[in-house]
Amino acid sequence: MSSDSILYSPYTLPCGVTVRNRLVKAAMEENMSSLGNVPGESMYSLYRYWAHGNLGMIITGNVMVDRSSMTGPGGVALEKSNDLAPFQKWAKIIKSNGALAIMQINHPGRQVLKAMQGNAIAPSAVPLDMGKHSKLFAQPREMTCQDIHEVCKRFVETAKQAELAGFDGVEIHAAHGYLLTQFLSPLTNQRQDEWGGSIINRARLLINIVSQVRAVCAKDFIVMVKLNSADFQKNGFSFDDSCEVVNRLEALGVDVVELSGGSYEAPAMQGQTRDDTTLAREAYFLEFAKVLESKTDIPLMTTGGIKRAEVAERVIQQGCALVGLASALAITPDLAKKWQQEWTYSGVIPHCTWKDKSLASLANMAMVRRQLRRLGNNITTLRDPSPLWSLILDMLHRNKMTKRDVG
Ligand SMILES: Cc1cc2nc3c(=O)[nH]c(=O)nc-3n(C[C@H](O)[C@H](O)[C@H](O)COP(=O)(O)O)c2cc1C
Repeated sequence: MSSDSILYSPYTLPCGVTVRNRLVKAAMEENMSSLGNVPGESMYSLYRYWAHGNLGMIITGNVMVDRSSMTGPGGVALEKSNDLAPFQKWAKIIKSNGALAIMQINHPGRQVLKAMQGNAIAPSAVPLDMGKHSKLFAQPREMTCQDIHEVCKRFVETAKQAELAGFDGVEIHAAHGYLLTQFLSPLTNQRQDEWGGSIINRARLLINIVSQVRAVCAKDFIVMVKLNSADFQKNGFSFDDSCEVVNRLEALGVDVVELSGGSYEAPAMQGQTRDDTTLAREAYFLEFAKVLESKTDIPLMTTGGIKRAEVAERVIQQGCALVGLASALAITPDLAKKWQQEWTYSGVIPHCTWKDKSLASLANMAMVRRQLRRLGNNITTLRDPSPLWSLILDMLHRNKMTKRDVG
C-alpha cells in the first residue's frame, strides 16, 4: 500500500532537522525571474503547485551567487546587497504546506551563453566543446587566486542571505559542469597551483565553501551538495574522485549529497554519456549510490530518470535517504500525492530521439521548461508536448528574457 511505503516515512538529517518524507523536488532552473533577477509572481505560482504536492523537501532552481555570471536568461541571483523581501515570500510559499525549503546556489563558471554577455571565468581557460554549438558559449578567462577567494566569499554570503530569508538550507551545486565541477574535473582544471592537480587540490574550493557556510549559518541549517558521480568523459572526474570528495564532505558534517552526473558536454543527467558508460534506464545513478553508500555515512539522494513510485521506493530500499524528482514534477507537480492515491501512476519524463544529441538534449529541457512556464501562468501541463514546438517557444522566451536581462 502506498501510504505504508518507506517513501512516506520521515528522515532525520545529521543537523537534526526531520524531512517529513523521502520525496524531493530536485532543482530546475525556472528562467522566469522578475526584473532584477529576483523571484516574482510567476515563480510564486509555480512553487505553490509543488508546495501543495506533499513533497518532503523542495529545492529551488539554481540561484546565482554573482549577478554578472548567470547560467541563463531570466535566472535568479542573490547577493549580499539584495532586498530579501521577494526571497522571503518565496521561502514562505515553499514551506506553506510542510515541505522544507532549500535554495540551490551556483556559479556557472565557463557555462555562460555568449548572448548573456556575462563574466565567464574558469579554473583554466578551456572553452566548452559542444561541437557546432560551442560558439554559443563565451570563452572563459582563467581565474586568479583573488577571483577564487571572491567566488568562495560570494557562495558563503548567498547561503547566509538564504538563511536570513527563511530557507531551511542550501544546496551547493557542484555538478553538471558548472564552476565547482570545473574545478573538480582534470579536463577543465589544468592549474599547477594549490587549486589544481590532486583531487584534494581540485576539491579545495568546494571544501572551503562548505566549511565556511557551516561556520556562518546556524547548526540546524541544512547544507547539501549536488555532486557528479562522474562526468562521463574520458580522463574526466571519475567515480573514485567522487568517493574521495564525499569522504571530505562527511568530515564537514554535510547533511545530504545528491548524486547526479554529466555536464552540458555529456548530459548524463538526462541519461546520455560520452564515454560509453551504460546508465540504468530509470534511476540513472542508483548503481553509483549503492557503492558510495557502503563507503560513507552521509545521507545520499539520487536524482535522474525517476517517474514511478516503485523505482523511487527501490532507491530508498537500496540505501539512499532521499529520492530526487525533477522533470516528472514539472509535468505532474502533485506526483507524490498521486502515488499515495494510486501507487502505479506513472509520471512522464520527455524523451526526444532526434539524431543530433545536443539538440535533442535542448529539446528535452525545452519541453520541461514549457511546463514550468505553464504552471507559472496557472495553465495545466501537457503530458506529451511537441519537441519542436517546445524548442521554438523556449527560444522565443529565452530571447525575450535575454533582451530584458542584457538590456
Ligand atoms: C529544465 C531543467 C532545469 C534544470 N535546472 C537545474 C538546476 O538549476 N540545478 C540542478 O542541479 N539541476 C538542474 N536540472 C537537472 C535536474 O535537477 C535533474 O538532475 C535532471 O533533470 C535529472 O532528473 P529527472 O530525470 O528527474 O529530470 C534541470 C533539469 C531540467 C529539465
